[in-house]
Amino acid sequence: MDAVPSEIRRLAQLRRGFPSVSDLERRAARRIPRFAFDFIQGGAGDESGLLRNRAALQSVQIAPRYGRKVAPVDPSATLFGRRYAAPIGISPIGFDGIMWPGATRLFADAAQRANIPYLVGTLATETIETVATIAPDVTWFQLYPLPADDHRISHHLADRAQAAGAQVLVATLDVPARTKRPRDLRNGFVMPFRLGPGMLVQMATALPWSLALARRGRPNFANMLAYSGGGYEQTASFVQKNVGGGFEWEALARLRDRWPRPMMVKGVMHPGDAEQAVALGIDGIIVSNHGGRQFDAAPAGIDVLPEIARTVGDRCTIMLDSGVTGGVDVLRAMALGAQGAFAGRAFMLALAALGDIGARHMAGAFIEELSSAMAQCGLTSLDHVRSLRTRHPDAWTSADFTPPEVS
Ligand SMILES: Cc1cc2nc3c(=O)[nH]c(=O)nc-3n(C[C@H](O)[C@H](O)[C@H](O)COP(=O)(O)O)c2cc1C
Repeated sequence: MDAVPSEIRRLAQLRRGFPSVSDLERRAARRIPRFAFDFIQGGAGDESGLLRNRAALQSVQIAPRYGRKVAPVDPSATLFGRRYAAPIGISPIGFDGIMWPGATRLFADAAQRANIPYLVGTLATETIETVATIAPDVTWFQLYPLPADDHRISHHLADRAQAAGAQVLVATLDVPARTKRPRDLRNGFVMPFRLGPGMLVQMATALPWSLALARRGRPNFANMLAYSGGGYEQTASFVQKNVGGGFEWEALARLRDRWPRPMMVKGVMHPGDAEQAVALGIDGIIVSNHGGRQFDAAPAGIDVLPEIARTVGDRCTIMLDSGVTGGVDVLRAMALGAQGAFAGRAFMLALAALGDIGARHMAGAFIEELSSAMAQCGLTSLDHVRSLRTRHPDAWTSADFTPPEVS
């Protein structure tokens, strides 16, 4: 799967032409239907949580170090016993195919080529089996609890992920209830999706997107087809009815017993919950506020990360997600106690802006920017990233929680 010279040239051109995620965002807004753009870019409530994620990351300063030999720089890192080219992963995005048709396959391909983790979601638009075939070395699987009463489908999905070879199972915690996303409500983009006249006009004027849709077909919740009985409407109704509740600790304990490989929980924002997860034998935590899509009042992940790292960092792997848009953010997260980071919208916007090559562009951009940031800090490897001198004005500092009682 080595890149051919023309691809290497194209990727280098793209890195010059689209140096930041905001460049991609502007182009994406022109190229895809408005309802799809809003679906990915929107957040819960008045989107203050969403805005906070970026502002909080930007407020973290790192004092650079100079006068050292910094070539070559090696941004690789070990996560759960496997060496990755860099500790930056692609976050799970439900119904990703609406933003760019074929998104799940393209993420899998980009992650495998770049050797970075791809945390594919329960609600992705390709099956876990297909993803693990495209990305056999780097597939992680994200799980939602369903159905609400006994989670038997989740257990089956976990078994499928295990059989397919997924290396890490990640249970998402932060969806105990459905939440309100005003942009989707205004656009009429609600489950089960029905295309109104306004949406059809938006689709007709988004030519590259419409062509990709014609080529790849209407996206569907591919992992759900085995349970919904098939069909587009039927599967959408099935998802509407069965997805949308949280994992409770007892259910996570059962999942932990079932899954033999490393397991993480995603959406931890409180040191008490981190303690509880570790007490259950969970191997890792993704500190995340779901990209500001669940609870508008939630702090930014980076602001609670140091406290969580102080509480459980010696006993589990910690990754940061929410608001991460470049390699400098990955370094910020690692300097404050994470072993790496995940990004969602940055990868989605790259696909929407650049089409099929977008996810590869983004993976390369992250690795290049992380390497450059390391050089600014006098680092040739990530081994001593915790020794960096940082300033983090908004960090939460009081661990005023009641330690959980765990039997
Ligand atoms: C459109 C969209 C769909 C998402 N779907 C899921 C999902 O199915 N499961 C999940 O755990 N997180 C989901 N997330 C949250 C992401 O995995 C991730 O936490 C978030 O995007 C990180 O913030 P960022 O986009 O600022 O990087 C979704 C996010 C977006 C934007």
